[in-house]
Amino acid sequence: MSAPPHAAADAATPGAGGEPAGPRHVAIIMDGNGRWAKKRRLPRVAGHRKGVEAARNVVRAAGDLGIEVLTLYAFSSENWRRPAEEVADLMGLLRHFILADIEELAQAGVRLRVIGEYRALSPDLVRLIDGALARTADNRGTTLVVALNYGAQNELVEATRRLAERCARGELDPAAIGPAHIESELATHGLPPVDLLIRTSGEHRLSNFLLWQCAYAELLFVDALWPDFDGDRLAQALDDFARRERRFGGL
Ligand code: IPE
Ligand code: IPE
Ligand code: MG
Repeated sequence: MSAPPHAAADAATPGAGGEPAGPRHVAIIMDGNGRWAKKRRLPRVAGHRKGVEAARNVVRAAGDLGIEVLTLYAFSSENWRRPAEEVADLMGLLRHFILADIEELAQAGVRLRVIGEYRALSPDLVRLIDGALARTADNRGTTLVVALNYGAQNELVEATRRLAERCARGELDPAAIGPAHIESELATHGLPPVDLLIRTSGEHRLSNFLLWQCAYAELLFVDALWPDFDGDRLAQALDDFARRERRFGGL
């Protein structure tokens, strides 16, 4: 194999002065809202509300820190297993977030992108999301990717199905399929691979998040619960990332 693998080719490279570049793409599994609320004897929704505030702060900080792409895991394809009342609370908060925050984000140059089967959400939410996507489509600042009803296995199944259909139509030779074909069918097509994956709340698992895109991500598990996460903690995470030695299989 002479060609470098895609992950290494697209990865953050050292800056002009030889200093290590920051991560281009940071992805966060925002976990611990429920435990934050429980510690305070509050209903779980209070933790989710605080979690939205944390997300708001982190999105602002990401722009200031020069992060090109920030992906936030907001609702997984497995989160439907929660009680209907909690799911409704989460959808309500999402609705509120779009109504209250998109204009400010749009003014700040943020470009919104959604990954996951968001069209399965309620029609009013789908309309709001489509409006927010259109409102920010021409922006050139930070790309904010929100994962909604997202599951990496579903994403890969869909990508596989589309490639198989192209093969069945005779448009694609199965023997020619390579990583770039799969990437082009992912919800994240066109985005750089994840450089830094952060999960809050002390859990050490991926929970079906960006399995392909994190192939060479640096993983950072922090004990802070998501509602306690903020711009300073994001800056600390970038400091930690800067001390990592990334090898991509080389020396
Ligand atoms: C993360 O917090 C928010 C979502 C998954 C939507 P949790 O609700 O998972 O909080 P814990 O893990 O129960 O503390
Ligand atoms: C992952 O958190 C999903 C989101 C943060 C949206 P969960 O709390 O749902 O994950 P598990 O159930 O602990 O794996
Ligand atoms: Mg959780």
